[in-house]
Amino acid sequence: MKRTSSPPTTSTSKRSKPKTMTHSEELPLPLYNPSTSASLSLYKSAHATSIQNTSAYWSSIASSKLDWFAPFSSVLTGSFIDGSVSWFAGGKLNICHNAIDRYCSPPYNRGNETAIIWEGDEPSSVKRISYRELQLNICRIANGLKSIGVQKGDVVTLYMPMVPELAMTMLACARIGAVHSVIFAGFSADAIADRIQDAKSKWVVTAASGSRGGRNLPLKTICDVAVKKERCVGIVQKVLVFDGAGSNGNEWDQDESLHVRFTDLVSAQRPVCACEWMDAEDPLFILYTSGSTGRPKGLVHTTGGYALYAMHTTANSFGLAQQTGPSKEDDPHRDVYACVADAGWITGHTYIVYGPLLNGLSTFMFESTPMYPDHGRYWDMVQRHKITVFYTAPTAIRSLMRFGDEAPNKYDLSSLKVLGTVGEPINPAAWKWYFDVIGKGKCAVVDTYWQTETGGHVITNLPGVTPMKPGSCTLPCYGIEVVVLDAATGQEINETVAEGVLAIKQPWPGMARTCLGDHQRYLNVYMKPYPGYYFAGDGCRRDEDGFIWITGRVDDVLNVSGHRIGTAEVESALVAHSNVAQAAVVGVPHDIKGQGICCFVTLTEGVPESEDLIKELRNQVRTSIGPFATPDMIVLTAALPMTRSGKIMRRILRKVAAGELDTLGDTTTLADPSVVDTLISKVEALK
Ligand code: WT7
Repeated sequence: MKRTSSPPTTSTSKRSKPKTMTHSEELPLPLYNPSTSASLSLYKSAHATSIQNTSAYWSSIASSKLDWFAPFSSVLTGSFIDGSVSWFAGGKLNICHNAIDRYCSPPYNRGNETAIIWEGDEPSSVKRISYRELQLNICRIANGLKSIGVQKGDVVTLYMPMVPELAMTMLACARIGAVHSVIFAGFSADAIADRIQDAKSKWVVTAASGSRGGRNLPLKTICDVAVKKERCVGIVQKVLVFDGAGSNGNEWDQDESLHVRFTDLVSAQRPVCACEWMDAEDPLFILYTSGSTGRPKGLVHTTGGYALYAMHTTANSFGLAQQTGPSKEDDPHRDVYACVADAGWITGHTYIVYGPLLNGLSTFMFESTPMYPDHGRYWDMVQRHKITVFYTAPTAIRSLMRFGDEAPNKYDLSSLKVLGTVGEPINPAAWKWYFDVIGKGKCAVVDTYWQTETGGHVITNLPGVTPMKPGSCTLPCYGIEVVVLDAATGQEINETVAEGVLAIKQPWPGMARTCLGDHQRYLNVYMKPYPGYYFAGDGCRRDEDGFIWITGRVDDVLNVSGHRIGTAEVESALVAHSNVAQAAVVGVPHDIKGQGICCFVTLTEGVPESEDLIKELRNQVRTSIGPFATPDMIVLTAALPMTRSGKIMRRILRKVAAGELDTLGDTTTLADPSVVDTLISKVEALK
């Protein structure tokens, strides 16, 4: 088991501040070095080897770390140019076997070890589920799914709270070769309906209700609205309703032709179900994410490559090791890994469900929020469960930091070894607070950069191995060849110090293979912008040490509290309102969320501006996407800044929203420059 290094020492070299920081604090940004630089050279040579012959690298790990029912006959075929990448063709495996079954039998014998520690909305509701129990439950659910008609290749939509049954149902789908499509429980009925329709998903699993922060989530009610929408009628055959969560338990209306009681169905099944032999490239799941157009895209992840990548990055990035035998009684080095994200996003798929279980570790599922019942919840959990690896998002750190050090100082956080962050660049002040106040200066902070599309981490420091720099995601993961391209020419910048767009030069096993039903879109978005490279959609800077600093999205995608939201999605929600003529949505710096949503809206002829209408529009976005996309600012205006050719000048709107008036730039190309002054005063009045 790899330990994190002794306390890092600081060097005094002055670093420049990365561009994306939306916070104004000026901190010296020291290079935190692990006790020795030898491990950095080891990383460098191992990384060089991993990209020199990437097929050899991945092939040997795939053979040694995964169980295959039939061996693969080739490693990597296809390229970014032809847009059809395949890994481990000919190989047959099942991810549920690799994550669960193999750990229940020799040589692992971890059937009695904890697989899931679940902490419900109330701190007192804790469940521990062993590998064996998990296996039995997954088999029952798998048989239940089969009994209602679910077949290999069918898409099963999951709209569930953070309960163990969500992870179990994902794994049950994988077991029988059904493709899961998890929808985050914060999405609205409209968003669910769009996704069900796009995936032609005949099966839906939801819960009567869920609980979060002491509030009841009426998931089934929302789901019912979705499946009754015209675009879903005739697609959805059955909705399984789990009734063990939330406050209204068994009290729900059952439409016998549609609803099936999950608990009744599952408890009647045998706890034995053979794993389907899946091709390495068979789809494992679909996960929808936002892009530059109003229509979310369903990214498709496949079985073999994803399994390998999830397993490998979980172990490396968090300094964890695959568990190969039963734990020793009271092993003081036993890791308790906790990722407090939601399983509805890729972070939960890879680093709550698949990655930890593929390594035979215990994973943590957290149903509540960092603020419930108070803002000490995370630290209380660290103390009670003796968490050693804790993984969260910068937005959560910033919102907790506001309350000061008192809450974390009340708890014993000495079990912590590694602190992870994900979702957006972490501003140095939040990094420092996490490092000093939570990690007491002795934990590694890993800043993991990745995307729904990448399946797992692609850039991060490795605890105890590579150095950290607050605000930089540092260096590429093994097997990942990161390049910085000149945005205009598409040429690789070879100098160490570089600024441009981030791209990846060689395929890796965990990458998404296509957008469901629209391979052309996949090619257009990721492969075509810079032929021969995977284009991530982010800008970046590489510093004199070769460390990467993400400078944010270069497309029309916002990052609000780590949630990716397309400006076009919010715009189409707004223009769907009969009083709206035109809408332009931009991101605005926000202290806690990183980015907030600012909407500029023109109304249809004759409609008066009013506070009520603003409320209606805010609601319109909530019902069309979900509460997490609620606009922070809605500015009603008679006109938008347009070029003479009729294009909305978003650059100017972004500046106006942010109050960066001295860098507005050239406004002379506007059809009517006076529009800008009106907008400035409107925004000022709102602040
Ligand atoms: C976008 C991907 C990956 C799981 C969570 C979000 C931004 C993500 C970092 C980081 C700077 C980051 C990027 C990326 N992002 N992690 N450590 N530093 N930016 O997944 O919804 O697919 O969003 O999140 O802009 O493109 P996602």
